[in-house]
Amino acid sequence: RKRIGVLTSGGDAPGMNAAVRSVVRSGINQNCDVYAINEGYSGLIKGGDMIHKMSWDDVRGYLSIGGTLIGTARCMEFRERAGRLQACYNMIERGIDALIVIGGDGSLTGADTFRDEWPGLIKELLDTKRIDEKQYKAHQHLNISGMVGSIDNDMAMTDHTIGAYSSLSRICTNISWVSATAESHSRAFVVEVMGRHCGWLALMASIACRADYVFLPEMPPTANEWVGKMQSVIERHRKGGRRSTLVVVAEGAIDSELNRISPEMVKDALVEIGLDTRVTTLGHVQRGGSPVAFDRLLATLQGAEAVRCVLESTPETPSEIIGIRLNKIIRVPLQESVAATKRVAEAISKKDFQLARSLRDSDFNE
Ligand code: F6P
Repeated sequence: RKRIGVLTSGGDAPGMNAAVRSVVRSGINQNCDVYAINEGYSGLIKGGDMIHKMSWDDVRGYLSIGGTLIGTARCMEFRERAGRLQACYNMIERGIDALIVIGGDGSLTGADTFRDEWPGLIKELLDTKRIDEKQYKAHQHLNISGMVGSIDNDMAMTDHTIGAYSSLSRICTNISWVSATAESHSRAFVVEVMGRHCGWLALMASIACRADYVFLPEMPPTANEWVGKMQSVIERHRKGGRRSTLVVVAEGAIDSELNRISPEMVKDALVEIGLDTRVTTLGHVQRGGSPVAFDRLLATLQGAEAVRCVLESTPETPSEIIGIRLNKIIRVPLQESVAATKRVAEAISKKDFQLARSLRDSDFNE
């Protein structure tokens, strides 16, 4: 029987539990033993109780629960070869030779490095007599596959990451609450949203909540000019009849000289034009709560495909992640996806940004 390990790594995202549930149950359906690894790569390095076999019933209720019940971590030790050597040993000791990782691009790249190094790691374990010849022969190759679990929607070659729509929905709900009080007092609100270096959440929220202005990492406005430009757009909106003002700032927003544009700087600029202004940083509420239906479906479909993927992979197949494109679940070579993420981020956002502008007012961020 094939033994598959599953772990969640990096920042949690709504839908990760649904993905774990799908891997466990699809694995069992395919006659595999599935092991949950607690606390991401840290659990893989610690071994012992952190790696435990999952039954069908163990994942009952997982589908709709937010966060990740098997725990996650941002693990520094796994970045070192010594950490990966110990992880390799713990897997072989349990007879696990396939790994499904649910996490962001850093976590998935870590899995790819692990797989590349695997032949050298098992050789070292054999030479140092930590494993025997039989174990060595039985674990010649590590099969991996990944699912992108991240609220940031920051991976190329897949349309959506697990958790992004739940987070967007939470942001929109919170902004609508803020909007009620903003309208009441005729105030301006500057709302900072997560996304690390990616503006997807900020841009989509600005469209869905009809923001007056948005600042994104991918489209840095000219330093020294953005204040005046934003002020003139917002003054025009006010003259046109708006009683409240909403500016969305991505947490990674920068200007053309790579200086951070902070919510406080935006607030100061709004105060200058006479607006009573408050700043709301949504923070980790954006990651909490039950996954929306889309994330449950995405995670469930991708979990089943991730199991098929590790069962079919050979030493020759490149490491793959499971994506979705044009509503079809697909497999994407991991390294290509990571490289494309770095290359195309700007182009993707520009297109969406133009759409946002055409649907809002003609002067949405001039
Ligand atoms: O990657 C997900 C994310 O929520 C980012 O949007 C944010 O920048 C970061 O994680 C926050 O990390 P932490 O939970 O470690 O504060």
